[in-house]
Amino acid sequence: MTNKKYHVPVLLKECIEALNIKDNGIYVDTTLGGGGHSKEILKSNKNIKLYSFDRDSEAINYAHELLSTFGERSVLIHSNYDQLRTQLALKKVKKIDGILFDLGVSFHQITDPERGFSFSKDGKLDMRMDNRDTVTAYQIVNEFRVEELSKIFFEYGEEKKSKVIARKIVQQREIKKIETTGELSSVIDQVIKGPARVKSKARIFQALRIYINGELESIKKAIKEAVDILNPDGRIVIITYHSLEDRIIKQFFKYEEKSCICPSNFPVCICDKKSRLKIITKKPIIPTEDEKNINPQSRSAKLRIAERVQ
Ligand SMILES: C[S@@+](CC[C@H](N)C(=O)[O-])C[C@H]1O[C@@H](n2cnc3c(N)ncnc32)[C@H](O)[C@@H]1O
Repeated sequence: MTNKKYHVPVLLKECIEALNIKDNGIYVDTTLGGGGHSKEILKSNKNIKLYSFDRDSEAINYAHELLSTFGERSVLIHSNYDQLRTQLALKKVKKIDGILFDLGVSFHQITDPERGFSFSKDGKLDMRMDNRDTVTAYQIVNEFRVEELSKIFFEYGEEKKSKVIARKIVQQREIKKIETTGELSSVIDQVIKGPARVKSKARIFQALRIYINGELESIKKAIKEAVDILNPDGRIVIITYHSLEDRIIKQFFKYEEKSCICPSNFPVCICDKKSRLKIITKKPIIPTEDEKNINPQSRSAKLRIAERVQ
């Protein structure tokens, strides 16, 4: 499989520039995927070392070959990035000079029907990024109560019709279990009519994916650990693909930039808060029209950059 078929890296040039790569530095790509960003990072300076994480064994196996030419400079770690600090400590790495997060799913994951991520490709309802995890979309869709399903659809998909869709799912599964992405998709078809259907399906599938993989919790833990281990001047570079992710990053960067969190009516500061980041991108960098046309997967990408201070 060519790199292009696995995944086309988004905002590639911009990410490499953003990382501000230093000679002899130690870098982390938390989301290896098809290895596009990792490869370019390694190519950019022959004296750096890169640790690349992915929780998906298919990504690790695929990139193993792609990055083998870089020898010991490239280290692959099959792990959730929420284990960032522990996994690096196991490799005797305590501090790093830059870190990249390219959140979400790869083109390969979303287009392989066997992985059960997509409503446009019929396959078993699965959606696990890491096949060592035990909970699949099948279990959620067929076992969760109406209220639980509706909460997931609303919180992680921002779907306004979450209750109606959840009720229909429960009604339908009493007749026959919902086993495939196609079957779930046709349940949504019964509730949402017209062109709004596609967007609703995208929201429901996104919500299930985020919930099953605990995506937002992993992001929150990992970005904090990333700042803890970043050397001064080191950069944290993050691409998000939807508003829930982007909001977390934006708020986190703002909080880490503040040197005081005392209420505004306090005459003096008593909080001891220290600024740990300087925000480099006041507004996120987005792909050019050209990039969006060549790679539609980049459409909603937003790149935010911050730098460790002190
Ligand atoms: C958008 S793709 C990355 C594409 C990659 N930058 C490239 O150029 O090919 C996101 C990747 O991150 C992985 N991923 C998502 N959440 C993860 C997590 N919590 N820990 C580790 N890997 C994760 C997915 O399995 C997927 O392979």
